[in-house]
Amino acid sequence: MNLYKYVSDAINEKLGFNANLETPRNRDFGDFSTNAALVGAKIAHKNPRELAGEILPKIQELDFVASADIAGPGFINIKIKDDFILKNATAPHPYKNDKPLVIDMDYGAYNVAKSLHIGHLRTSIVGDTLNRIFRFMGHKTISYNHMGDWGRSMGMVIAWIKRIHPDWPFFQDNFDPAQDLSKYTFDAAELNTFYPAASALAKQDEKFMDEVHLITAELQRGHPGYNALYNIFMPISLKSMHDTIEKLNILSFDNDLGEKNAALYVKDVEKILREKNLLQESDGAEIIVVKKDTDTAPMPPMMFYNSRGATTYDATDIAAVFYRKLTDNPNKIIYLTDSRQSLHFEQLFRVSELAGLFDIKNIEHIGYGTINGADGKPFKTRNGNAADLDDIIQIAIDAVRARTSENNKELDNDTIETIAIAALKFNDLMHDLRSDYIFDPDSVTSFEGRTGPYVLYTAVRLNSVLARATIDAQLHEHTLSTDERNLLLAIMDFDKTIQSAYENRATDMIANYAYNLCQLINAFYHTCPILRDDIDIQTKQSRLYITKIARDTLVTTTNLMGLKIPTKM
Ligand code: ARG
Repeated sequence: MNLYKYVSDAINEKLGFNANLETPRNRDFGDFSTNAALVGAKIAHKNPRELAGEILPKIQELDFVASADIAGPGFINIKIKDDFILKNATAPHPYKNDKPLVIDMDYGAYNVAKSLHIGHLRTSIVGDTLNRIFRFMGHKTISYNHMGDWGRSMGMVIAWIKRIHPDWPFFQDNFDPAQDLSKYTFDAAELNTFYPAASALAKQDEKFMDEVHLITAELQRGHPGYNALYNIFMPISLKSMHDTIEKLNILSFDNDLGEKNAALYVKDVEKILREKNLLQESDGAEIIVVKKDTDTAPMPPMMFYNSRGATTYDATDIAAVFYRKLTDNPNKIIYLTDSRQSLHFEQLFRVSELAGLFDIKNIEHIGYGTINGADGKPFKTRNGNAADLDDIIQIAIDAVRARTSENNKELDNDTIETIAIAALKFNDLMHDLRSDYIFDPDSVTSFEGRTGPYVLYTAVRLNSVLARATIDAQLHEHTLSTDERNLLLAIMDFDKTIQSAYENRATDMIANYAYNLCQLINAFYHTCPILRDDIDIQTKQSRLYITKIARDTLVTTTNLMGLKIPTKM
């Protein structure tokens, strides 16, 4: 049951106007607090404390209210009856939604032939959790890994391969696509070195840069050799993306469709833009002006074709909106990237509106902050390089391993990896998405405090109690202890939490809920022995019942974060 909503609705109905219900952090004085008297006093021009006195008996009449008192300038604190809590606390279930939205989600969005780096951590983890939240709420999501698979970086990679293997058939005039090409292959790690090498060279060598541009244009125009080569490295790169996604326990994408796919629709979009007179020539390029008179901040135009006639990142993003509307016809499109791309998305949404491609009210960008090192600058590995996602995972694994051997715990490699991934993910999710945070491998892998390992440890503990129990969990009416009461109330806060997380696109609400729940579970575990011999059977059964719904609520919460629970810790 969504206790908050139930209580709030009941009070509003009883009083005939809408008041605000608060859940105090400290529930010693009441489970809820309402400002009904303050709201009512404004309406009726009365003294709030006096009105509180009139309202109080009405609230006390509600059948779930154990007691109610006036506090401060006229707040009313409410305590809920134990038996009402006991009867109505249940583990959450996914929602059935009568009016499910179709939501296209664009996150991950990795680049072909470039390893996943730290900048992709948050889009992957938060995107996955938002996706799981939307699905839990009964919506239909369609996730897109909108890959960087078509622009200049592809030209870079091909130009580099040409440089190191000039004799390969892809670069010969008499290239025959029907020949056996199976010996021309790379491993993923080798492939990932090509782009950085080429881009470093292109910075100093103008001729090489010209060649990159030429190759990019020819690839896009259908050059058979370049396209055959592209078709060789593309699946290698995709496979390595999928390996990392799997390691992170992220749902697989519904579509691995990125810039290349969108490029197929650029001509259709061009037609629309021309009809609406939105394309303008500017120094040989074609641009779309999106500035409004009311703008106070700079708002540069979008570039549709650059001066070499190539399709741009801007153009493929516009075309992707067109494609999604055409194929999914979603109610909403949501993008999740580093907040440094905010301007790009503001421009994109304006073009979508100007060209009539998508309703600007239903297209949104969520921009996240940077992950920094202890020095407050973007996190780097020890050798000073921008960290790859695989490096970060390894750093977390090493930190968990060091910690377990310090504590003489014997854990197998899979378990260590599961804990390390949970540590990374939980730490990412618990921070306010829009702000930067400092990544400290040591503290995020701690088994105590607001960490992933602490959450997993709590879940493992509950699983182990339930596995050891030889009697059934069964509810018996009894006076609740403080720790039982607090735990059950927290379980009943689940629905309110997921709804706020959904409305605010705030994954930290889920992570912090999980942490609070774990603290209350552990407090209950310490003061309410469950299976101890001296406990009578009815008490045992009730405590097992509470343990079970607490475990189920925690598991639902960890599932939303994509955390795996080990069997042993
Ligand atoms: N591939 C881009 C990157 O790695 C992100 C793409 C985000 N999605 C989009 N539709 N532009 O930065």
